[in-house]
Amino acid sequence: MRVLVTGGTGSIGSVLVRSFLERGDEVLTFGPTSYPGRVADIAKDITIIRGNLAYQSEVFNAVKNHRIDRIFHLGSMLSLPSNANPWAAFQVNVVGTMNVLEAARLFDVPQFIFTSTIGTYAHGAGEVVTDETLQRPATMYGTGKLYGENLGRFYRTRFGLDFRSVRLPSIMSPCAKVRVVAQYNSWMIEYPILGKPFPCFVTPETKRPCMYFKDAVRAISTIADAPADSIAMVNYNVGGLNPTPSAKDIELEIRKHFPGADVTYEPDPVVMKFYETAKTVTFDDTCAREEWGWMPQYETLDVVVPDFIREVTKNPSQYGLA
Ligand SMILES: NC(=O)c1ccc[n+]([C@@H]2O[C@H](COP(=O)([O-])OP(=O)(O)OC[C@H]3O[C@@H](n4cnc5c(N)ncnc54)[C@H](O)[C@@H]3O)[C@@H](O)[C@H]2O)c1
Repeated sequence: MRVLVTGGTGSIGSVLVRSFLERGDEVLTFGPTSYPGRVADIAKDITIIRGNLAYQSEVFNAVKNHRIDRIFHLGSMLSLPSNANPWAAFQVNVVGTMNVLEAARLFDVPQFIFTSTIGTYAHGAGEVVTDETLQRPATMYGTGKLYGENLGRFYRTRFGLDFRSVRLPSIMSPCAKVRVVAQYNSWMIEYPILGKPFPCFVTPETKRPCMYFKDAVRAISTIADAPADSIAMVNYNVGGLNPTPSAKDIELEIRKHFPGADVTYEPDPVVMKFYETAKTVTFDDTCAREEWGWMPQYETLDVVVPDFIREVTKNPSQYGLA
């Protein structure tokens, strides 16, 4: 199978690309630079296409010049950068997603997988969010992703494109570079491993539903492989850690391995303002479980943290930490 992964050298995309290579897929990535970064060690085994999602012709060329079987559209600006520059976020996340969907339609790509976000829920969503909860995002990022979900559904019904998407909660992964509203989940673990102090930018009580990156990669490939007749909801919540840990819970867990961890709390008013609107603590993923058998494998901190430590110490270059 020949797969195109937009954002394939990013945090989640690079791990997804490795999993596809391992199972024998031919892999192409699409992104703003030809610098392989996290996929440097496998760069010779994949095709890295340099292009900007906002430029229709660059997207069309990438899809037209290769007979693509599946597109995994992960390329995106994340939450805080999108809020800081909503004009760029519109071009990348809204126009860019339209460009990739159009490329799929025009050049006969049968399947399209999209990564949406828990950030599509905010105003009035409450502490428990299900697939039926009204999506009223509070950010430019969430607004753009919600458009992507619905545009994909439109392409599915209007043009028969096999569009499917997962809404990911905050992802815990090594070397997540972009500071987003819930990145403390990852940095609270990573900084103590690297011997760096971590000034946590939310209060100790803050909770945001989260998922280990290995589960995120598995959710994305599992929904792609699910039988067509199992897909009814189309856009799905997928959950990870259960119950959702607080920032303090993560600190206490990492202290079991690094008792001298230098963690302080310096809540950022801009980030805390976000949490005044987005109060979700429980991310209900019943539809994904019932329709295509979603089941996270990393549900508790005592499973996530040791694996995170192993990954960072065993494969630092894979995460840009060498
Ligand atoms: N990390 C999270 O907590 C999280 C949570 C929910 C959803 N998601 C979604 O998962 C996907 C992957 O996120 P990630 O955590 O790997 O982030 P990331 O920032 O590591 O990866 C995003 C990728 O998009 C690429 N990109 C950005 N602008 C582009 C442009 N103009 N043209 C082409 N490519 C461009 C970047 O180069 C990068 O490779 C994204 O769609 C994101 O919205 C992530």
